[in-house]
Amino acid sequence: MGDRVRGKAIIVTGAGSIGPGMGNGKAASILYAREGGRVLLVDRDPAAAEETRRLIADAGGEAVALGCDVTSSAECHRMVHACLKAFGSIDVLHNNVGIAIPGGAVELSEADWDRTMQVNVKSMFLTCKHVLPYMERQGRGAIVNIASHNAIRSLPVIAIAYAASKAAIIALTREVAMQYAAKGVRANAILPGLMDTPMVTAQLTDAYGGDMEGMRLQRAALCPTGKQGDAWDTAHAALFLASDEAKYITGTTLMVDGGITCRVR
Ligand SMILES: NC(=O)c1ccc[n+]([C@@H]2O[C@H](COP(=O)([O-])OP(=O)(O)OC[C@H]3O[C@@H](n4cnc5c(N)ncnc54)[C@H](O)[C@@H]3O)[C@@H](O)[C@H]2O)c1
Repeated sequence: MGDRVRGKAIIVTGAGSIGPGMGNGKAASILYAREGGRVLLVDRDPAAAEETRRLIADAGGEAVALGCDVTSSAECHRMVHACLKAFGSIDVLHNNVGIAIPGGAVELSEADWDRTMQVNVKSMFLTCKHVLPYMERQGRGAIVNIASHNAIRSLPVIAIAYAASKAAIIALTREVAMQYAAKGVRANAILPGLMDTPMVTAQLTDAYGGDMEGMRLQRAALCPTGKQGDAWDTAHAALFLASDEAKYITGTTLMVDGGITCRVR
């Protein structure tokens, strides 16, 4: 157990994992708890949130699981009150929820465009809308938004709504950061690169003809390091941005991509 976020009340959205293994939100939740945070584990899938809670409790950490859909304003309101009831404050909002649906402008359906924007962007707008008044009143808070390197560069598998939604998250983060900088509230975005997580297996394997191992090899080959990152890489960056170690960092984007953004192929 460490002390890097000792005593902080932390909301993580998408704190479960879409499949077996370790996703970004699950890893961040576990790491926050390991470093002394008290974590509200928010997930549309209550069983997924509960699994993360059990892992944290087994390791001696403090967490509460909450089934909640962050695309709904009423549900975000409920999330805020659940955090205040459990921990008495909201020090960190970690917005991790996101989905990826492959397809370009012609292939992607209008419904999938709307759904992506709702889950990836509107959810962050809504969580900020409900959390910021409390952080402002407290005079402190940190928001960590999970975007993607796809916000600023194109990938072999085109997911047009996903890329556009992640670019929107950078702008959303910047505007929140500027509006609240003098009020003690920071907001930063993380841009993970190619990470080997259950979400990729669940949502992108079809775009590689169902060949999961082939997908892993192709993605690894794109990385300057020769391998993909993992959920812990994203989580460690989030821990830093959420902690007081980052007290003078706001409005920025942190690449966690093994250098892939530097590469011109
Ligand atoms: N894996 C990568 O290569 C990669 C790269 C860049 C960015 N990212 C980003 O990381 C984030 C996902 O990370 P993960 O590994 O935790 O994904 P995940 O899919 O394993 O877990 C996300 C969780 O969010 C929950 N969820 C989905 N919609 C929700 C909603 N409306 N309300 C509440 N919960 C909801 C799901 O039930 C799931 O448990 C996304 O924002 C994704 O875009 C991933």
